Amino acid sequence: MAKPPARFVCAACGAVTPKWAGRCETCGEWNTIAEEAPASAGPGLHKHAAARKLAFVDLAGSTAPPPRTPVGIAELDRVLGGGLVPASAVLLAGDPGIGKSTLLLQAAASLAAGGHRVLYISGEEAIEQVRLRALRLGLSQARLELAAAINLRDIAASLEAARDATMVVIDSIQTMWLDSIDSAPGTVSQVRASAFELIRLAKSSRFAIVLVGHVTKDGAIAGPRVLEHMVDAVLYFEGDRGHQFRILRGVKNRYGATDEIGVFEMTESGLAEVPNPSALFLAERRGNVSGSAVFAGLEGTRPMLVEVQCLLAPNPGGSPRRSVIGWDSGRLSMLLAVLETRCGLRLNASDVYLNIAGGLRIGEPAADLAVVAALVSAAADQPTDPGMVFFGEVGLSGEVRQVAQAESRLKEAQKLGFLSACLPRRIARGNRPLFAPDGLTLQEIGHLGDLVVRFAGRTGQSLS
Ligand code: TYD
Ligand code: MG
Repeated sequence: MAKPPARFVCAACGAVTPKWAGRCETCGEWNTIAEEAPASAGPGLHKHAAARKLAFVDLAGSTAPPPRTPVGIAELDRVLGGGLVPASAVLLAGDPGIGKSTLLLQAAASLAAGGHRVLYISGEEAIEQVRLRALRLGLSQARLELAAAINLRDIAASLEAARDATMVVIDSIQTMWLDSIDSAPGTVSQVRASAFELIRLAKSSRFAIVLVGHVTKDGAIAGPRVLEHMVDAVLYFEGDRGHQFRILRGVKNRYGATDEIGVFEMTESGLAEVPNPSALFLAERRGNVSGSAVFAGLEGTRPMLVEVQCLLAPNPGGSPRRSVIGWDSGRLSMLLAVLETRCGLRLNASDVYLNIAGGLRIGEPAADLAVVAALVSAAADQPTDPGMVFFGEVGLSGEVRQVAQAESRLKEAQKLGFLSACLPRRIARGNRPLFAPDGLTLQEIGHLGDLVVRFAGRTGQSLS
C-alpha cells in the first residue's frame, strides 16, 4: 500500500499544509510548522459493518443538575459555576509564570482538606520543586498524591485505578507524551492525542480532570485551539506580571455561565482571594488629579469599579503617540476621532497615554464614557468629580448609548461610597424606569458634547 502523504501542521493556529515552510501562511508565525504523523487510513463507513440504531429520546424529561464538588476557593468555584463536575474536563490556560500551578496546588490542597482524593501529576517540575512551592504556600502537609511524569501510558495505567479521585491535575498538557505518536511533546498531534486520552479516562473513571495549558504570546493555547472544543470548560488565568492582580476568566463552560471572573492577588504566600475587587482597584486613587475617571464596569455578572487614567503630553511635531494599557487601542482612536469631529476637541498635537489602573484588562464598550471623561478632564486640566462614576457606550455621532445592567453598576458605586453617576440618558420609549440606589444622584448624558461643555464651563475656557 502506498505511504499516505505527509501532513504539516502549524502549532500556533492548527492550519494544515502539504509541505513544510518556515512561516505559516495562515497565521504568519515563524517556525511553528512541523510534520504530523499521517492519520491511519481508517476503514471509513462500510455499508455492511454492523451498526446499532440510535435510541432517540424526547427533549422534555427530567435531568438533575450535575452534582458539583466545591473546591473551597470561592473565586475559583464561582468561575467553575459552583464547583467541579465529576467526569468533566477543564482547561486552565495562561501565560507561563502567571500562577497556574500555584492556583491548582492551592485548589488541590483545599479539596484534599475536605477529604477528597486528589492526584497532581507534574510534567514540568520535579517533586522537589512542587514540594518547595507547597512549603512556600504553607501546604506541605496537604494530603495529595503527587507524581512527576510525562509518559501517558504510565499515567493512564495509574489513573485507571483512580476511580475514587475527585480531581486529577495534569500540569501541563504540553509536556505529555504518548509513545504511539511519532513527534515531540508539545506538538499539535501529541497535545491533541494526550488530551483526548486523558479526557476519555476522566469520563470513564468519573473524576474531574484539570489540564494546564500554556498560552503563546498571541493568545492561542499553544498546541493549539484544538483543546478548547475538547474540554467542558476553558478558564483563562490572566494578569499583568508586573502587577499583583490575577483574573480567572471563564470563556467556555458547559456546566455554568461564561464571562464569570474570579479575582486573586499574588502574594508572598500564594494567591489570595479578592472578594471585593472594586475597593482594591480604587485603593490607590488620588483625589484631585486631572485625567482620572472611575468606570463602573461589569465583569461577567460582577460589577467592578476601576480607575481609568489618561495623560496628555504635548507633541508639537511629528505623529502623536497613542499608548494604551488595559484597553482597546482601536477604540481609543475612535473616541479621539469622535471628540474631534463631533465636539471640536482636537488632541492631535498631544501624545495620549491611557491606562487602566491595577493591571486589569477591560473589554466592555461601556468604558467609553469613562475614557472620554478622563480625556476631557486631562485636556481641561480639571479633575473629574471624585465622587462620581461613569459608564456608557459612545456611538460615532457622539451619542451616549445605553449599556447592560445599569442597576448593578449603580449599586456597586453606592456600596463603595460614591455619590453620583454619569450615565447614558434614557430614551423614554421602551426603557423601564431606572432604580437609583439611595444617596446616588444620576447625571444623564445624551451626547459627548454635554460632557465637554461641562468641563469647559468649569474651567471658564473653551477646550477646542
Ligand atoms: P506558577 O504557579 O509557577 O506559574 P505557572 O504555573 O502559570 O507557570 O507561578 C509562578 C510565579 O508566581 C513566580 O514568578 C513566583 C510567583 N509566586 C509568588 O509570588 N508567590 C508564591 O507564593 C508562589 C508560589 C509563586
Ligand atoms: Mg507551572
